[in-house]
Amino acid sequence: MPARWPLIGRDQELEFIDAQLRRSWPGTGVVLAGAAGVGKTRLAREALAASQRRGAATRWVAATASARELPLAAFVPVTGDLGGVPADLLRQAAEGLARVARDMGGLVIGVDDAHHLDDLSSSLLHQLVLRNAAAVVVTVRTGQPAPDAVTALWKDGLLRRLELQSLSSEETAELLGLVLDGRLDSVAANRFWMLSGGNPLYLRQLVDGELEAGRLAQAAGVWQWAGRPAVSAGLAELIRQRIGHLSQQEREVLDYLALSEPLGVSLLTGLTDPDAVEQAGGPATRCGGRCLRWNPAGRRIRSCSWPEPSRPRNCLTWSWPGGWLRLPWTPAADGTASMPWPWR
Ligand SMILES: Nc1ncnc2c1ncn2[C@@H]1O[C@H](COP(=O)(O)OP(=O)(O)OP(=O)(O)O)[C@@H](O)[C@H]1O
Ligand SMILES: [Mg+2]
Repeated sequence: MPARWPLIGRDQELEFIDAQLRRSWPGTGVVLAGAAGVGKTRLAREALAASQRRGAATRWVAATASARELPLAAFVPVTGDLGGVPADLLRQAAEGLARVARDMGGLVIGVDDAHHLDDLSSSLLHQLVLRNAAAVVVTVRTGQPAPDAVTALWKDGLLRRLELQSLSSEETAELLGLVLDGRLDSVAANRFWMLSGGNPLYLRQLVDGELEAGRLAQAAGVWQWAGRPAVSAGLAELIRQRIGHLSQQEREVLDYLALSEPLGVSLLTGLTDPDAVEQAGGPATRCGGRCLRWNPAGRRIRSCSWPEPSRPRNCLTWSWPGGWLRLPWTPAADGTASMPWPWR
């Protein structure tokens, strides 16, 4: 498996972040937003490494859904274990970090997945920015609800929000060339881009899976990709993490949309459980004259007023918050439309 995935296609973003880290008002730093796997954490880490090379002190804070119930959990690695009631905790943590920033002549804190921050940690982050006590590089996943104190960072204009995009086909081809350390034929490179949608996380999982299965191999000095890609164990695990929580009925709704979106509301509710359609799409799905599509970013179905161009047929599509994952697929000879979910 290639260990080296050099950063590609983020020069402008790094320049933008650098400019935001140099300004001192109203807040210092930036919010990096984007779909799952688009490269938020990687970019934030690279930005902190660049700051460190310029002599700044840096700290890394990673929020997780499981630690959300614990006050200040995300910041404990940088503030140390503090005791006391919440108000004291917040004051001690803010003072401690401000002291570090003063002593070190400036501090840049990376806050990863800030949408998972517990209330006290998000208040601390907000205070640090509001008082300009430290510079921050914050990542959030688009479409995920975040604490008020986090959304206030960009809504109140304290920090600029940068929306990260997937890699272009050229960037994907460049990255593949470097990762494989050799020339990849252009048809294969384009296929990787189409299937992954330029999402570096899908791309990495796909490449690793195809290398492991021996379908991506070097012949006469050129990398070639033969056969049909399969969902590797790593990719299946990722998809399970993202949409494994859906009920059987909701998955059925997605199956139909994945096969032939957009679909009319009345057709979809006729084919599936109307309650599951409404659960996945909200009240808008009650409006019979509209069409429905899956909105991966918001993990919900969205309605649209008129049919948009369909995606290519013979594609098996799994949806998750990062977008669609498309793999070639041929329906069974008897015409059945049931889709093999990767973990079934
Ligand atoms: N521009 C890039 N060039 C090369 N590799 C990249 C790039 N961006 C991300 N990667 C790689 O893709 C993978 C996914 O990136 P990363 O973890 O940063 O995504 P993310 O947006 O933080 O995902 P999540 O929403 O799940 O936290 C990582 O292995 C990372 O090193
Ligand atoms: Mg991340």
